[in-house]
Amino acid sequence: MQIRLETKSNAALETEALVTYVFEETDPAQGRISEIDQTAHGLLRKLAKSGELTGKTLEMTLIHAPGGLKAARLLLVGAGKREKFDSAALRKISGSALRYLKSRGVHNFAFVVREGNATEDAAQAVAEGLLAADFESDKYKTDKKNDKSIDHILLAGYSEAERASGTRGLARGTVIGESQNFARDLINEPSNKLTPKILADKAEAMAKQAGLAVEILDEKKIVDLKMGALLSVAQGSVEPPRMIVVTYTPATAPKSGAPVIGIVGKAVTFDTGGISIKPSDGMEKMKYDMAGGATMLGVMRALAALKPNVKVICVVPATENMPGGKAQKPGDIQTAMSGKTIEVLNTDAEGRLILADAIHYAKQLGATHLVDAATLTGAIVVALASINVGVFGGADQAWTDKVLASAKAAGEKMWQMPMDDEYREFIKGTVADIQNIGSGKGGGSITGAWFIREFAGDTPWVHLDIAGTAWNDDAKTWLAKGPTGVALRTLVHLAMSY
Ligand code: BES
Ligand code: ZN
Ligand code: ZN
Repeated sequence: MQIRLETKSNAALETEALVTYVFEETDPAQGRISEIDQTAHGLLRKLAKSGELTGKTLEMTLIHAPGGLKAARLLLVGAGKREKFDSAALRKISGSALRYLKSRGVHNFAFVVREGNATEDAAQAVAEGLLAADFESDKYKTDKKNDKSIDHILLAGYSEAERASGTRGLARGTVIGESQNFARDLINEPSNKLTPKILADKAEAMAKQAGLAVEILDEKKIVDLKMGALLSVAQGSVEPPRMIVVTYTPATAPKSGAPVIGIVGKAVTFDTGGISIKPSDGMEKMKYDMAGGATMLGVMRALAALKPNVKVICVVPATENMPGGKAQKPGDIQTAMSGKTIEVLNTDAEGRLILADAIHYAKQLGATHLVDAATLTGAIVVALASINVGVFGGADQAWTDKVLASAKAAGEKMWQMPMDDEYREFIKGTVADIQNIGSGKGGGSITGAWFIREFAGDTPWVHLDIAGTAWNDDAKTWLAKGPTGVALRTLVHLAMSY
């Protein structure tokens, strides 16, 4: 799918569908809508007067053969109240329009931004919205709906003077949207098609193509480095683990003492729970337990093209979590790479174990500021449903605030959770330094975060629990059912803010 900027006027756009959006206001036929209305002989004002065109959020009004326009169709998408309109709304509007037209066999359309919206940010948001919406989970379907595809889209509403900034935004949004889909593709793969080794191979291929440095630690290297926490999870599987390291270094060497961002993503390619086995009902979904890792690899893919002025090290611990004769058992004591001892009271709390070694290793590689993303706990779904990512910070609130500010700018909903010292008591060990589940009742996501924080130590660190948000159980009008690639846009924005 190609997206191109076009500065021709609305009436002159030859396309299968001209798409724009309508605000919910007393007279919806204002500005650009009024321009189209005049060309279309007052049709839109008539629709508005009759109450058929209201501008209510994501209301769809499709008009065939609109008089006065070269386009074969006119699609008007409700944009809600003008005061509440933002980039997030634009993503949903453009995405919903794409899926609406695609399902009707339309192959190309022009998306016109409204008066005052012809900015770099808007172009980026539209590109992100369109690319995310175009993603389908039909890779393994032999009967693909090839007749239902969008070939090209024109981004319109920009003047000649606005062409340069619009083109910049479009290019950035395209990189981010494609990288998010790269991550979603990985997340969608079932565990028989994506073992830790295959994930590492794909990460290596991506890094080489993007011009990023990559190092894959195999089982032997992982043993040499004494990554006992990662190994404890991997020991139950016939598939060997991998530690994936991808590094972006800016062309102009940053000053010494400059921050180095470490992004760490949980990649359990399948989580059965191990000996503390999960119920079979719904277990198939645990193929997405590598969403954190896939998302971080997607971030690196985007950064390679967008070239921020900061070094970023991505560390992805990859393993299966399986029961079996060699699997670790509840009560086993493991020694993490950092030297800390862990009593594994529940083998299903494996994400925090593999992150313990990955976080420690990222610090060893020079990361000064850490963010991890993980499908860590079912408890975060109870707390925040599938609306907000759970955000957990360390002592450095400024770093957490920076991540939250990026989330806001990128239009990803995130909510900071409490990390009072009292919760630390929950993971105090009786026979080892710490235990991998809380002894208190409740607060499961906070306990998980505190466990990881033990390994971040004094290094500024933020943990994103994406268990509730990395997978869409129901299709939205702007997004297919399945993987979302959440947190990617936030982290790309974070790196780009340097
Ligand atoms: N991968 C799961 C968490 C999860 C749950 C992700 C639902 C996506 C949807 C994680 O490894 C896990 O099993 N966590 C346990 C922790 C518990 C044993 C303390 C959980 O949440 O039940
Ligand atoms: Zn688990
Ligand atoms: Zn898990």
